Amino acid sequence: MLVMSDERYSIADQKARFDRAKRENNRRYLDITTVYDPSSLQGQRVAVTGANKGLGLALAAELTHVGAEVIAIVKSSSSELEELGVRQIISGIDVTDDEKCAGLSEQVEGGPIDILINNVGFLKREGEQLDSLDFPTQIKTIDISACGHLRVTSALLGLLKEGSKVIMITSQAGSIGWREVQSPNGGNYGHHMSKASANMLSVLLANEVKNRGIAVGIFHPGFQKTDMTSEMKDTWESEGAVDPSVGAKRVLYETIQLSMEKSGKFRNCEDGLEIPW
Ligand SMILES: NC(=O)c1ccc[n+]([C@@H]2O[C@H](COP(=O)([O-])OP(=O)(O)OC[C@H]3O[C@@H](n4cnc5c(N)ncnc54)[C@H](OP(=O)(O)O)[C@@H]3O)[C@@H](O)[C@H]2O)c1
Repeated sequence: MLVMSDERYSIADQKARFDRAKRENNRRYLDITTVYDPSSLQGQRVAVTGANKGLGLALAAELTHVGAEVIAIVKSSSSELEELGVRQIISGIDVTDDEKCAGLSEQVEGGPIDILINNVGFLKREGEQLDSLDFPTQIKTIDISACGHLRVTSALLGLLKEGSKVIMITSQAGSIGWREVQSPNGGNYGHHMSKASANMLSVLLANEVKNRGIAVGIFHPGFQKTDMTSEMKDTWESEGAVDPSVGAKRVLYETIQLSMEKSGKFRNCEDGLEIPW
């Protein structure tokens, strides 16, 4: 069982992972600001989906703060996003809508994109158990978290150039290898299927765009205190959940580290280690 880390892989057990980081005083894990240098992001054109709240909003805020040009792609905007003063907000983009996504590239102002961060995700706990499965929700979850990343990326492919990076925010929940530890009793069918599916599409994409010199990062962003995890509030402190502003720095740190050699790997932004498929 993947309980202890080796040099390559992160630890499946969230609490054990956090406890070990504290025991070893792992600064990379416990205080990302000790390694994070955002200077290379200055002037970069970065498109972020789901930038109206949670991690997406925190990414837009941090990127704006460090001098990047943010193109926020959202279903609906928010006052918090509007207050950031990003370069452009493209709203009305439901990532399950083929036509809306297909028209995206014509709406982006100002030329090529250096970094595309596919961040949208969906988690509904009801209807995810075997005795009460709600299939429309299962399909919707997979459509948003997997096909949504694919629709947006394929629509914006023409705006990516050699050296561009595509970040796929998936989740440790998409690791089949970690189910024994994290889901010993099953459950969360649609959500976990959606993230495994997002991992698969990301590897296929990495293979397809490597000849164009485009790197693909497949990231578990880390456990964060957002609306999505609010039902797990009682585990936030013991399992090391962080404010999304910290999660954003972790994601951007790994984005900066991403290279063609690291493309197509599934990485945990908490400790920078790989997660097994
Ligand atoms: N928080 C964590 O601990 C954690 C852990 C692992 C992975 N993640 C992943 O990190 C990403 C961000 O999570 P979060 O915690 O920030 O979640 P969140 O606060 O629930 O935000 C989800 C975002 O996805 C957008 N979205 C959902 N359905 C959409 C659709 N059909 N079209 C367009 N946008 C849609 C939401 O926009 P609306 O508000 O307009 O619906 C919102 O911007 C997700 O992919 C999530 O699975 C988070």
